[in-house]
Amino acid sequence: MKVLVVGSGGREHALCWKIASSKQVSRIFCAPGNPGTAALGENVPVDAADLDGLLDFALENNIDLTVVGPEQPLVDGLADRFREKGLPVFGPSKTGAILEGSKVFAKEFMFRHKIPTAASNTFGSRENALRFLASENAEFPVVVKADGLAAGKGVLICGDRVSAESAIETVMGKRAFGEAGDRVVLEEFLSGVEASIHIITDGKSYVLLPTAKDHKKIFDGETGPNTGGMGAVSPAPGMDASLLSRIESEIIRPFIRGLNEDGIEFRGTVFFGLMLTEKGPFVLEFNVRFGDPESQVIFPRIESDIVPVLVSAAAGKLSGKLTLKTDTAVTVVGASAGYPGSYSKGFPVDILSDFPDSAILFHAGTRIENGKLVTAGGRVLSVTGMGENRQYARKAAYDGISRVRFDGMTYRKDIAKV
Ligand code: AMP
Ligand code: GLY
Repeated sequence: MKVLVVGSGGREHALCWKIASSKQVSRIFCAPGNPGTAALGENVPVDAADLDGLLDFALENNIDLTVVGPEQPLVDGLADRFREKGLPVFGPSKTGAILEGSKVFAKEFMFRHKIPTAASNTFGSRENALRFLASENAEFPVVVKADGLAAGKGVLICGDRVSAESAIETVMGKRAFGEAGDRVVLEEFLSGVEASIHIITDGKSYVLLPTAKDHKKIFDGETGPNTGGMGAVSPAPGMDASLLSRIESEIIRPFIRGLNEDGIEFRGTVFFGLMLTEKGPFVLEFNVRFGDPESQVIFPRIESDIVPVLVSAAAGKLSGKLTLKTDTAVTVVGASAGYPGSYSKGFPVDILSDFPDSAILFHAGTRIENGKLVTAGGRVLSVTGMGENRQYARKAAYDGISRVRFDGMTYRKDIAKV
């Protein structure tokens, strides 16, 4: 089988790593990929946003399965275009991808199908949003969410009215996220512990993937600005069989029923961003793709071959089970100085000779320049360690990342410490 993975981050390296271990796979391509995916297969110089280029490549090379990493190409209709040409693709069509592409749609879907989520109001104009904030119905803190995709920056948590007004100004006045800010959701603030729950589905049934938790803030102790994720752990701390079964009955099964009632076709993964509150699990957001860096802890914990599950989901006939490892996995992200703000690139990356065999290094923002590995992004790489419990897994991950060097490298010291 020939498999094409679309994307270039740590998630895509982890996907290629898992897919490459399948006996069914003879060749693996990654578009555009990174130096990590190049070591597992062949990188293809086609950008993830270039739908025509991806389609041409898949047709010319008789690709048997395409697995899409990022959300944007799905929201733009990659899966629809591939399926029109009879190409199997793991990833939802546009009508499914809108569950991530529009927060307004996602909230309406949750209210309609009684999936627990924070109370919210939607506004299509700046004036109406400001009027609501000035009214006695407004409660603080409030969460301001741009409707559309905003590269993970469209959610602003506002402690008081003044900061909420300024968030509305940013999103709807200055239009910091362009048309993603045509509408906003003002949402009740929930407190609790977050968890990332992934399923693979064909829209009718589902397979649960290992649970995970990511660490979103740049600094130790969950402080500083939000990032794409500075590390992750699987299983999610505090997740036990009874909580997971509650999540399945209150969230996952109503979600699948909702897809069917609304006639939404969905062949791919759903990543439920949850807040575990005192009142139970609530959905903060749907993602229609695997999490990053969650993938770097989820895939290493899957014992069985994932390819038959991906293939059957892509065909709309999900079958197969996944056996999971009992080990815990921890991944720690090494980032460029300045990230998530502005940062410099092009620093040589050294992986010391005593980098432990048991740790797994996943590339993200790296590139080969004049034959040398250099930094090329904010999140440069991550190192995953496994162990029989969280302490051992942490130690393995930190033993690994401490043997990677580049100018200005930063990483959190408290990933999975809890
Ligand atoms: P989202 O893109 O909706 O997952 O939001 C990004 C992050 O903002 C989440 O991972 C949470 O940390 C936070 N967040 C989103 N919605 C809420 C909420 N209603 N209450 C508290 N925190 C939230
Ligand atoms: N780590 C969170 C995400 O992938 O959205």
